[in-house]
This record gives sequence, C-alpha cells and structure tokens, in this order.
Amino acid sequence: MTTKRWNMNDIDKNQSYIKEAAGILQAGQTVAFPTETVYGLGADATNPQAVSKIFQAKGRPEDNPLIAHVATKEQLQRLVTSIPAYVDKLIAAFSPGPLTFILPSNGICASNVTAGLDTIGVRIPNHPVALQLLKEVDIPIAAPSANISGKPSPTTADHVFNDLEGRIAGLVDGGPTGVGLESTVIDCTQEIPVILRPGGVTKENLESVIGHVLVDPGIIDGEGKPKSPGMKYKHYAPEVPLWIFEGDSNGFQELIEKEQQSNHRVGVLCSNQFAVQLSHDNIYQLGDSMEEIASSLYDGLRYFKQQAVDVIICESLPESGIGQAIMNRLRKASDSTIT
Ligand code: TXA
Ligand code: MG
Repeated sequence: MTTKRWNMNDIDKNQSYIKEAAGILQAGQTVAFPTETVYGLGADATNPQAVSKIFQAKGRPEDNPLIAHVATKEQLQRLVTSIPAYVDKLIAAFSPGPLTFILPSNGICASNVTAGLDTIGVRIPNHPVALQLLKEVDIPIAAPSANISGKPSPTTADHVFNDLEGRIAGLVDGGPTGVGLESTVIDCTQEIPVILRPGGVTKENLESVIGHVLVDPGIIDGEGKPKSPGMKYKHYAPEVPLWIFEGDSNGFQELIEKEQQSNHRVGVLCSNQFAVQLSHDNIYQLGDSMEEIASSLYDGLRYFKQQAVDVIICESLPESGIGQAIMNRLRKASDSTIT
C-alpha cells in the first residue's frame, strides 16, 4: 500500500489533513501520528480487524496489549468500569500528559487491544495534533509506538517512514516529539498504584500528588515476571551491540582504544559534558540536561544503525527523575553493562 504523508507545518491545510486522517482511521485503516512522547501507530480500538493491522505492520507479538488514546477524561471514562479517587487526582495533575493508566476494562475496546486481559491501558496524550485527531475521530485509538517491533521507538516522522512506509495507510508529520521516551505506565487496579514502566512522569512527580507509589520489581532488578507484558521483550534495540559504560572518562577512553585495537569501529553516545572529555571522532552528543538526553536517545540509537560501527558504547546516566526511564530503556536495548 502507499503510505499517505501529511505535513502539519502546512498551517492552512491542517484542518483538512486532520479530517482526512480521521476518516482513514474511522474506515478501519492505520495512521501514525505524533504524541508528546513518541509517534504512535493508531487504529480504531473498537474494531478488531483494524487493531490487527497494527500488529501486522509492526510485527508485534499478539500477547502484548496496546494503549487506548483518548482526548478527554469523559472519553476515558467510557472505556473502564471504575476509576479510583487517586486516579482522579493523577488525571487532574498529569493529563493530558505522558502517563498511562491501567484500569478495569468494560469491554468497549476490542479484545486484541488488551491481549485478552480484563484491564486496559488508557492515556490522554499532550500533543496538539494528537488531541485534534482524537477529538475529530471521537473513538478510542489503540496506538503502540510506530516502529517495527524491537527497534527504537520513533521520535520523528522520518523514523516512522523508515520503518513502516508501505505497511501503513497514513502518517501525520507533526515534527519531532518532545519527551522522547514512552509514557509512564501505572497499574491503578490496586489500592496503591504500581509503576510498570518508568517514563515521562516520574515516581517523584506521582508521589508529590498521591503519596506512596510502588515500582514493579521487574523494573528494578530485571527479575521476575513483569506485569506489563511488553517489558519482557528485548526492546528499543539498535542493530549493533550496545554497551553501557559505568565509570569516568579515562576508563571510557581506554575502552574505546581497546576496541579500536581489535579493529572495532566504535560509536559513542554520551552527554555533552562527557563528550568534551573524550577524544574520539564518532560521538553522538545526547545533550546537556537529562530532558534533552531523553529526547534525543532514540535518534542516537537509530543514528548508529546507519553508521558503519561494530559497537555502540553509551555513558551510564544518573537514575533519578527521568534518568530512571532513560536507564530502563538503555538496559533493555543493551547486551551488557561494562563497569
Ligand atoms: O508514550 C507511549 O506510551 C506511546 C505513545 C504512542 O502513546 N505508546 C507506547 O505503546 O509506548 P507501546 O505499545 O509501545 O507500549 C505499551 C506498554 C507495553 O509495555 C504494554 O505491555 C503495556 O503498555 N500495557 C498496555 N496495556 C496493558 C495492560 N492492560 N496491563 C499491563 N500493561 C499494559
Ligand atoms: Mg513500543
């Protein structure tokens, strides 16, 4: 199929592009669109045939449930049987935003959205294009990240096109996304909520609003059976081995040189501060702040996919705030941590 691409920079045509994209979604086809985290690959969440096209296009395992995207709290309420009081507070504080609520499903969404679970993940994305599109369609839109399964999530329309051109009906190009890492997934079916996937809304952010929040042990130690089915898969991976280096710049430099002596071409991913301490000609600088680093991480992973390198070495980053999500994604993408 030909993938139709709409450029939302074209302000005069925005409204008609949104209507066209909405019509394609309502007709049961797939359309990729920007959110504030990463691009999503959307389809009508109430239509099982439409939803199965997402799994086909991505090559995604069918036991991995999808997030339903809606524009308003009223639309969210239509998909679940009940909403605990703490979720009302979290919605007031963080929605629209990078936070996905796992709640008891009322069965409105197709069973392949929830992979047969009796719960559903729902979020209200904080991106003007996503919100316009979701208001226009007025149906819940199931949308995983718009990448081939196992690859880094897309943070630009070109990332989506490189992975999915010819496999999806449309792509709304709204420029680069902001946060750059997927939403925080929080299980809200218990008295105390549990973070299943760290993301744009941090544990600290959540606790400032509702007090104690638990973290799924599968995230902390990588052991046990993660409750978020997606967390068990090797994810976000570039096609070259990725190592995380814990240590100072002298140790990092030694490792680069050791690899070069074995005739390995090395790509380096690190913060701007670290980059100035290294002497190497193939460094992707992720940025100064942790927010910038989160935002450019997936582009960095994809960048080295196109380079002739034999190994990518990434600086280990501090694990507070958004750093939790950054290190979670890096660990899942990497083969080994070098200390
Ligand atoms: O930021 C995001 O969340 C992006 C954008 C497009 O919204 N979407 C995204 O979707 O990252 P995906 O499919 O790549 O990740 C969804 C995660 C998976 O780890 C999945 O297992 C989990 O959410 N999930 C979805 N429904 C669930 C449920 N009912 N119970 C537990 N985990 C669930
Ligand atoms: Mg994904």
